[in-house]
Amino acid sequence: MSIRSERKEEHLKLAQMFFNKEKYNSFDQMHLLRPALPESKVDQSVLATEMFNKSVSAPFFINAMTGGSKQSLIVNQALGKIAHQEKIALALGSASILAKEKDQLESFYVARDEDPNGVLIVNVNPETPINAIKQTIKELQADALQIHLNTVQEIAMPEGDRNFIWLDQIKNILDQITIPVIIKEVGFGLDQNSIHLLKENGIKYFDVAGSGGTNFAQIENARNDHDVSYLEDIGLPTVISALMAQKESVNFIVSGGVRNPLDILKGLSLGGQFVGISNVFLQEFNKNSFEGLQTLISNWKDELAALISIYGKHDLASLPKIKKYYDLPLKNQIDQLI
Ligand code: FNR
Repeated sequence: MSIRSERKEEHLKLAQMFFNKEKYNSFDQMHLLRPALPESKVDQSVLATEMFNKSVSAPFFINAMTGGSKQSLIVNQALGKIAHQEKIALALGSASILAKEKDQLESFYVARDEDPNGVLIVNVNPETPINAIKQTIKELQADALQIHLNTVQEIAMPEGDRNFIWLDQIKNILDQITIPVIIKEVGFGLDQNSIHLLKENGIKYFDVAGSGGTNFAQIENARNDHDVSYLEDIGLPTVISALMAQKESVNFIVSGGVRNPLDILKGLSLGGQFVGISNVFLQEFNKNSFEGLQTLISNWKDELAALISIYGKHDLASLPKIKKYYDLPLKNQIDQLI
């Protein structure tokens, strides 16, 4: 197995080892005001929406995780099947490995095979050669491209990149491909200045991928002897990152630490067009296999529709109008940062 494939397998194992369903995060410090008399009915059809010109049954999706190893193939096949059956979007893990190891294509392609007409999002790092990106988009008939920014993760990896001059590369990718480009973090959050700079350079879609869920400093720290656990606390909480994206008036996805349908509603109420979930879905699959994850996603749709109703709303567009209020520690950070 190559060092890259081995890393993918280790990420899957460590994401499971460190998974903590009860983990407290910024969504717990944010609240939504609920009318006792909502004058609404529960209706699952309010969840249906469009994502990159295709219809999806819900505004949440399976966010980037894996590809490029044996176990990745098994996971991506199941995720593709579930995305198809539940009619939700799926983002694959980084396909940058394909620039060097073409034989790993199958571990990504299985998802497209299972979901021929669904929304499939390809993910790369900014350093990936443009030809490899173009080819992967074509082979997987990708509907959008995520480019991940992951400085903290790279620093936590002894073998990681040390050069983070990425803007020209991102601009080049944007110029050369025709599908939408989403800039995402990997669990440490996009800050407002970076969103602004990227917006000025033509980027239209963002995924805040804030802190509060999967922590790649923790995962990478467990992969090496040199202790970098102090990096675990330097992420920007998802709620703050979402408020920053909202301030920049860009299209954005809320992700990072989403644990349940109420977190999804909070993400949508912050102005996110979609909400992305990674490790909670992966761990449900690990624990209860395909059926378990499919049931969870199906239940979450029912529960999200019920929540929208009790918060007195009748469509996705009006969710940002729900009144939000914050516990003081989070309010304090918001006042200092935004
Ligand atoms: C990830 N994530 C990720 N992100 C990315 O842009 N490219 C990638 O290849 C991966 N790989 C990956 C593997 C595994 C096992 C996990 C759990 C996660 C990060 C992911 O997309 C997301 O930003 C974070 O996990 C935060 O979301 P959750 O897990 O808290 O919902």
